[in-house]
Amino acid sequence: MNNSNKARVDFASKVGMVLATAGSAVGLGNIWRFPVMTGQSGGGAFLIIYILCVIALGLPLMTAEFIVGRHAHTNTAQAYKKLSNGWLWRKIGKFGVFTGWFILCYYIVVSGWALDYFVDALLGKFSRLAQSGDPDAYAHHFQSFVQNPWMPAVYALVFILMSHFVIVKGVKKGIERFSKIMMPLLFIILAVLAVCSLFTAGAKEGLTFLFRPDLSKITFKTILAAMGQAFYSLSIAMGCLCTFASYFSKDANLVGTAVKVGIIDTIVAIMSGIIIFPAVFSTNLSVDAGPSLVFIALPNVFHQAFSSMPLLGYFVSVLFYFLLILATLTSVISLHEVPTAYLSEDFHMSRTRATTIVTVSVIVVGSICSLSMGPLKDLTLGGKNIFDLFDFVSGQIFLPIGGFLIALFVGWFLQRRIIYQQLTNCSTLPPRGMRSIILLLKYFVPVAIMFIFLSGLGVFDWL
Ligand code: PHE
Repeated sequence: MNNSNKARVDFASKVGMVLATAGSAVGLGNIWRFPVMTGQSGGGAFLIIYILCVIALGLPLMTAEFIVGRHAHTNTAQAYKKLSNGWLWRKIGKFGVFTGWFILCYYIVVSGWALDYFVDALLGKFSRLAQSGDPDAYAHHFQSFVQNPWMPAVYALVFILMSHFVIVKGVKKGIERFSKIMMPLLFIILAVLAVCSLFTAGAKEGLTFLFRPDLSKITFKTILAAMGQAFYSLSIAMGCLCTFASYFSKDANLVGTAVKVGIIDTIVAIMSGIIIFPAVFSTNLSVDAGPSLVFIALPNVFHQAFSSMPLLGYFVSVLFYFLLILATLTSVISLHEVPTAYLSEDFHMSRTRATTIVTVSVIVVGSICSLSMGPLKDLTLGGKNIFDLFDFVSGQIFLPIGGFLIALFVGWFLQRRIIYQQLTNCSTLPPRGMRSIILLLKYFVPVAIMFIFLSGLGVFDWL
C-alpha cells in the first residue's frame, strides 16, 4: 500500500455511497438519451428489453467493477495492476481512466448546453421564440448557440469549475455530501415535473406509448440499442464504478448496492419518459425527433403543451433544465474523480493539484470539442467533426472494449476466492447470485458486447 492509500477516505454512510454511485449513473443518458431511444425504438417494447438488459448485462458488470474496486482499495489504474499479472489485464485500469477522462471532455460540452438552456428558460427566451411565429426558430436558436465560438465554451468552463470545487473537497466532504443533497432534490423535481406532464392533453397517449408494449416492434436492432443504452446509462467501463467502489466500506453489500443503483437509474429513466412523452403527444411534434429532442423539440413542446397555462409552461421548462444540470453535474463529478484519484495516488500529488491538472486538461480539450461545432467544423475525419469523433470513439469503441475486458477478466481470470470474499463480505453474507453473476460474465456479457461493438461499427446496418 502506498502512502496516499493510508490517508484514503471512504464514503461515510451507506446512503451516501448509494446516492453518489447513483449520481454517476443518472445523467444525460437517462434524461436525454433514454427518451430519444425509446421514441425511436417503439416505446413500451423498448422499455421491456431495456430492463432485461439492465438485469442481465448491467448488473453483472457493475458488480464486477465493484469487486475489483473494493478489493484493490485504490484507483482504477492501480486496481487491475494489483489483481493480475497478465499484461493485458494490467492495462484495463489505465484504459478505464483514459476513457473516463476522454468522455468527460465532450460530456462537459453537452453539460454546458444544458446550463445555457437553463439560463434561457429562466430569462423566458423560449416563449419569445414561440411568439416569433417561425417554426424553425428553436432549431435556429440551437444552431446559432452551438456554432458561437465563445458561449458554449464559457458554459462548459463554468460547469467543469463547479465539478472542480466539489472534487477538490474530497470524497466524503465533497462528492458524498453533494450527492446527499442533490440526488433527493433531483427526485423531487422529477416527481413535480411528472405530475405536471400528466395534466397535458397528450397524457394518456404518451403513457400508452411508454408502457403498452407492441411486441411486433422488437427487432434485432432494438435489442442492440437497448444493450448499448444500459451500458451507457449505468456508467459501465469508464472507471467510475471501480473508483467509487474503492471508497465503499468493508460491510457494504456489493450485489445489493448494484441492484439499488440499477433500480434508481431505471426509475429516473422511466420518469423522464413520463415527463417527456405526454408533453410530446400534446403537440404535433414527432416522438422520434432524435438527439435534437432535448435542445430543439422540448423547449417548443413545453411551450405548446402548456399553452393555456403559460406560467406553468415557464415553470416546467426552467425546472426541467435545472434537473438536467443536476443530473449531469453528478455524472461529471464521477468522471472527474477517476483521473483525479489516479493522479493523486499514482503520482503522489495533493488532491488539489491532481484536480487542477484534470480540470485544465479538460478545459483545453473540451474547448476544442466545443469549437468543432463552429469555427473548427471543417476539421473532420471520416465525415465526423471532433465532437462527433469523441462521442463515437468513446461510446462505440472504448466502452465496449473496456466492458468486454472487464467481463472476461472477472469471469475467467480473477481468483474465485476474491470474488467470494467480496460478494459475501468475508462469509458474513450468503453468496447470493454469485453463480449467475459469474456465468453471465463468462459467457453472455462478452458475447452481447461483441454484438454491440459490431453494431456500433455498422456491421448490421443492412438488417
Ligand atoms: N451514466 C451517465 C449518464 O447516464 C453517463 C456517464 C457515463 C457518467 C460514464 C459517468 C461515467 O448520463
